[in-house]
Amino acid sequence: MTDKYAVIGNPISHSKSSLIHRMFAEQTGEDISYEAIEAPLDGFAATIERLRTEGYKGCNVTVPFKEQAYNLAGSFGSEVMVAHAANTLKFQDGRIEAHNTDGVGLLRDIEQNLQVSLRGKQILLMGAGGAAKGVATQIASLLLHKSPSTTLVIANRTVEKAHELARACNATRVSAQSYEELVGQQFDVVINATSTGLSDSMIPLPGTIFAPGALAYDMMYGRETPFMAFARAHGARVADGLGMLVEQAAEAFFIWRGVRPDTRPVLEKLRNV
Ligand code: ATR
Repeated sequence: MTDKYAVIGNPISHSKSSLIHRMFAEQTGEDISYEAIEAPLDGFAATIERLRTEGYKGCNVTVPFKEQAYNLAGSFGSEVMVAHAANTLKFQDGRIEAHNTDGVGLLRDIEQNLQVSLRGKQILLMGAGGAAKGVATQIASLLLHKSPSTTLVIANRTVEKAHELARACNATRVSAQSYEELVGQQFDVVINATSTGLSDSMIPLPGTIFAPGALAYDMMYGRETPFMAFARAHGARVADGLGMLVEQAAEAFFIWRGVRPDTRPVLEKLRNV
């Protein structure tokens, strides 16, 4: 019998998740269906209940339901404990298991797809909202413990939120700064996890922020954001978040099916759509 999965959000029409998971299923021969469901803003829990009753095996969760997804769960991957937000739910043995695959997705895209090693690098993460929380703790735990000289600075317009997030990461080489404090510093990898791309606004970054050969990574995809244009103009290598999208989906697929899809042909296809 075909196992059913879905992505739930509001709005959901823009989502590429169905396309990605169907390509994964075709490639791996896994017998699954995957659809996009728009839940009413006040109807997320009811939608999850319906899916479980109908025998779905799991779902992805996107804006604005990631925190609610976390709150509904009965068991958790360690990576969701700080962000308190889940993008992947697995329904198993009558309970809901919550995961957040964004951090792993980001790291795989940078290290494997873009071939940029993060070992020993100075990393700047901009933003301290939902998107940043999902990845900051992962960078801290996966990377900083393995690579003694890597550092992570979190910067945010509301600097107190950056300090809070840095504290939550619970690692000595993670610190927080305001944008003003960044003047005179350089980073090897600069990640934009703010929502500024949506409003075409720009973070007040000094043009000297990029170390020679730096990677500027915008977690947004589908458009050239002001941050990407700025980084390009100041000599950085620029990447958008499409690879992260595919990698976080692959990690969700692995959690559900125990099979790791090959992301390269899927990413290539999406780039050419
Ligand atoms: P998301 O889920 O996309 O992270 P969010 O939780 O609302 O959305 O967080 C938005 C992030 O973008 C925050 O870090 C926000 O900074 P503040 O915490 O100071 O609000 C950041 N952001 C949004 N607009 C910005 C702007 N014009 N300049 C700088 N940062 C901005």
